[in-house]
Amino acid sequence: MATTPKLDRASTSETADSPEKRVWRTSPSAHEALKTHYEANPEQKLVFPHKWDVSRSDIYVENRWQPIFAEMQAAGPLHYIDESPFGPYWAVVGHKAIQHIEALPDIFSSSWEYGGITILDAPKEELDKPKEERFELPMFIAMDRPKHTGQRRTVAPNFTPSGMTEMEPEIRQRTGELLDSLPRGEVFDWVDTVSIELTTGMLALLFDFPWEDRRLLTFWSDWSGDTELATVRELDEFRRGVLFEMAEYFQELWVKKTQEEPAGDLISMMIHSDAMNQMDPMEFMGNLVLLIVGGNDTTRNTMSGIIHSLDLFPDQRKLFEENPDLIPNAVQECLRYQTPLAHMRRTCTEDTEVFGQQIRQGDKVVLWYLGANREESVFEDPHKLDITRDNAKRHIAFGYGIHRCVGARLAELQLRVLLEEMHKRRMRVHVAGDVERVRANFVHGFRKLEVEITEF
Ligand code: HEM
Repeated sequence: MATTPKLDRASTSETADSPEKRVWRTSPSAHEALKTHYEANPEQKLVFPHKWDVSRSDIYVENRWQPIFAEMQAAGPLHYIDESPFGPYWAVVGHKAIQHIEALPDIFSSSWEYGGITILDAPKEELDKPKEERFELPMFIAMDRPKHTGQRRTVAPNFTPSGMTEMEPEIRQRTGELLDSLPRGEVFDWVDTVSIELTTGMLALLFDFPWEDRRLLTFWSDWSGDTELATVRELDEFRRGVLFEMAEYFQELWVKKTQEEPAGDLISMMIHSDAMNQMDPMEFMGNLVLLIVGGNDTTRNTMSGIIHSLDLFPDQRKLFEENPDLIPNAVQECLRYQTPLAHMRRTCTEDTEVFGQQIRQGDKVVLWYLGANREESVFEDPHKLDITRDNAKRHIAFGYGIHRCVGARLAELQLRVLLEEMHKRRMRVHVAGDVERVRANFVHGFRKLEVEITEF
């Protein structure tokens, strides 16, 4: 099949033994690869026989998932989807039921050994290999207790309120500079110019990730977050190649940093902390990838979601413009409204009952945060953005329980600073052209958002 990209690892290096000269793969994008594949092989398009199979990405790219979740919620908090391209699974759509399941992490495992944290299972060929031959990048998001607890504890001190206070001036300065550089009287893409640039730039600064390579973070997180293309064997192979390359990059970075004097960036702090010192290098790297890639398209898509939703609800934009004190609550409401990760997955480790449904050991359980954050019985008029909403903070966009997002404070800080700096400049951003959403059931966001800036 000529149109599917093939992984040719040799072509990614100029010379194998000169890492400085290494050329890292930056194309094709995950989106292009999948599009090209389906254009060449239309008969391979995925089929979704179950009317409530919310793993279908067309409902997200066309923004018509809302009535499906509402119908499911009216019928109950969880439903068994017996057939889907990702195999059978429980779709948990109730806010309370998701919290209930996340509060039982021993029964509902996050472990990669059972399938990890997305609807996509690890390829069978990979699991059949002897352990030492598998490509594994252990990350604590896909681990259970007690290992999860220890690793999370080593990373969490980087995200304390006082740590955030220290980071704020740098984040504010960079955000301000970027906003000042934006074109006026001209249509441009907010996703590429602002959301991607700010998120990758901030992560690159905080982790001292090489500045000139920061767009690699975007390329890698796009490939790692695209669950649908992994259903196509050739693309999944390519995807694993991309992830392998990312691991190699991080390994070089890690080696370089261990040889340098301690510095103030997060990687150096982690390397020189007593607790992180004990971690084996693959685990250290896995967790680095988790922090840098995990914080990437999530924050990016919320930055795009903020602009899109304020434009969709001009009354709310006016409120924001008139009353900047509402910004902290607006951040929570925009997180609820956007929910940049549509789901997380668990695997059931013993037969159990949840809200009257019998779940069996080994069942895949998919927690649809996106649906739950629009549940009418929890959020009144849920499809309306309301920056004064008194329970906006009850959203579960960051998850719940022992795995709740460790970077939540950093994300909230970046989003608050963005809104504050826009306000300071009296900047009003209008949607003024193409709006393209991500075609995926995991990452929920925008590929393109053409806007124009005026003043209020
Ligand atoms: C708007 C931005 C973000 C959203 C919506 C988000 C969402 C999430 C979600 C849903 C989870 C899983 C929670 C669960 O299973 O209950 C998670 C976990 C995690 N996130 Fe975030 N995230 C964001 C930003 C970040 C940032 C900026 C970082 C770091 C720089 C980060 C690092 C992590 C890590 C390390 C975990 C694993 C936590 C654990 O397993 O204990 N995230 N995030």
